[in-house]
Amino acid sequence: MGLPAELRPVELLPGLIHYPGYLDGPARCRLAADLAARLADAPPYRPRMPRTGRPFSVTMSNCGALGWVSDRSGYRYQAHHPETGKPWPAIPDLALRAWDDLSGYPALPEACLVNLYDADARMGLHQDRDEAALDAPVLSLSLGASALFRYGGPNRSNPTRSVRLHAGDALIMGGAARLIHHGIDRILPPAPDLLDSAEPGPGFLPQDGRCNLTLRRVTRPGDAPTA
Ligand code: SIN
Ligand code: FE2
Repeated sequence: MGLPAELRPVELLPGLIHYPGYLDGPARCRLAADLAARLADAPPYRPRMPRTGRPFSVTMSNCGALGWVSDRSGYRYQAHHPETGKPWPAIPDLALRAWDDLSGYPALPEACLVNLYDADARMGLHQDRDEAALDAPVLSLSLGASALFRYGGPNRSNPTRSVRLHAGDALIMGGAARLIHHGIDRILPPAPDLLDSAEPGPGFLPQDGRCNLTLRRVTRPGDAPTA
């Protein structure tokens, strides 16, 4: 898919590129329907922090050959759902197309982490660094409620800024921004003028909830025959 001419990327930092409104309304509905079917097969579950076992405030699932999981024994990628033991479902076509459009990476993504936020959920500042292919960017796609995304630098003590991510937005974290700290401060309540908007929320989300997909290349191309 060629990029629509009206798409205006914003470089928030070198390598951190925001594409507001990358998915239009029909594309968001299609992606949401695809995800609803996949989540019926790979139900969202509540991960726990390594060592402490403290529950995350988001629930998670994955699509792809590999899924990112966290439990008392640590963070890792694995090929099966931790509760059902089944392989993860395939990455939705629209997400693969977004990777093709925006990643600039010559190999397919292997993992698509699905984070589901209810109105009170958040995600603390962290780096995505469990992937061997750190030359590949991480691509994020957002659906549902808007969120305040916080981003800093490679060191936790670097100054941070925030940007609002809305339904349909894409964000690339690559190059010099591949290892920046980032997180979600909070989910934003619906804007008053959107309260009676016609767009149905994705059916698998709680009221005023948000869904974020992050696509990752995990193994270095050539190291493993996963894609
Ligand atoms: C993440 O960093 O895994 C999720 C970011 C987001 O929800 O936008
Ligand atoms: Fe992340």
